[in-house]
Amino acid sequence: MERVLSGIQPTGIVTLGNYIGAMQRFVKLQEEADCYFCVVNLHAITIPQNPEELRQKTLDLVAMYLATGLDPSKATIFVQSQVAAHAEAGWLLQCVARVGELNRMVQFKEKGKGSESVVAGLYTYPVLQAADILLYNANRVPVGEDQKQHLELTREIAERFNRDYADVLTLPEPFIGEVGARIMGLDNPEKKMSKSADSEFNYITLLDEPKKIEKKLKRAVTDSENMVRFDPATKPGISNLLNIYSSLSGKPIKELEKDYEGVGYGQFKKDLIEVTVDHLAPIQARFREIRNSDEVMRVLEQGREKASEVANQTLRRMKDAMGII
Ligand code: TYM
Repeated sequence: MERVLSGIQPTGIVTLGNYIGAMQRFVKLQEEADCYFCVVNLHAITIPQNPEELRQKTLDLVAMYLATGLDPSKATIFVQSQVAAHAEAGWLLQCVARVGELNRMVQFKEKGKGSESVVAGLYTYPVLQAADILLYNANRVPVGEDQKQHLELTREIAERFNRDYADVLTLPEPFIGEVGARIMGLDNPEKKMSKSADSEFNYITLLDEPKKIEKKLKRAVTDSENMVRFDPATKPGISNLLNIYSSLSGKPIKELEKDYEGVGYGQFKKDLIEVTVDHLAPIQARFREIRNSDEVMRVLEQGREKASEVANQTLRRMKDAMGII
């Protein structure tokens, strides 16, 4: 059976980008693979966080995993910091990764903006991500397109470890969706949708109220052609909305293009608002139910135990290969 691992940072309310690019696909994967999904709180502290808020957001994300349909009897759900092997393996792999490789990481350049005062953890962030993946011998890693470079680095680190020490680590494949791997900002479809965007009109969160969803989608940037056609190069706004529509409704883009032949953007947006609101309503209801129950803690206890068992085995093999007593 295939082994799957992925993680999401608890740095804000999950956006439709995170959901479509990653979470929605986690729910499908749990039916066919041995899945591990974590909340990567150690990655979150590479940018300043308020400690109490971070605690709450970590639990929010666990509840959101459950609300979107992850089932703890099928997938292992855990918090990264609760499995100590991640930090330990992260260090071992920092002694395998090369400075030259980390210098090429686009996300560090974007987030660090060349500043001398960003923390060192932001620089070594992708090595901790490699540890997350490699500890579980994951062969598939479902992520959005923005994580492709980190996954390539993970493979390089694993290959080098296997060559220089012993054949311990499994080389993972990125698993990037055909539709929705890069959901763009609603207010600027040239850049990816991001929870850290300046304007809230950039994104929809999974907890947005129907009124807010309506407002944001009504304002979403389109073009003046008034023809619903998928062409990201010349029609980035409409193509992005088609991606969202298709991912949430399950209808192929080709079919949607046919449905909206001769129908203008007004009706298209109206229907997309309805599809989005209807898709998120049951998730929001379940989130409210779960967040304040003891289910979150129960799931985490079970997840920590199961994840530690797998991770500690790999960590032991890594240490043995490296001569670390
Ligand atoms: P994070 O928390 O930024 O994002 C979580 C997931 O959401 C995807 N994503 C998107 N997909 C499509 N369109 C978008 N606009 C969009 N924005 C975000 C991301 O690609 C990601 O899959 N480094 C990772 C967290 C991580 C991780 C891991 C992932 C840590 N360890 C191990 C996989 C395996 C990150 O920052 O994700």
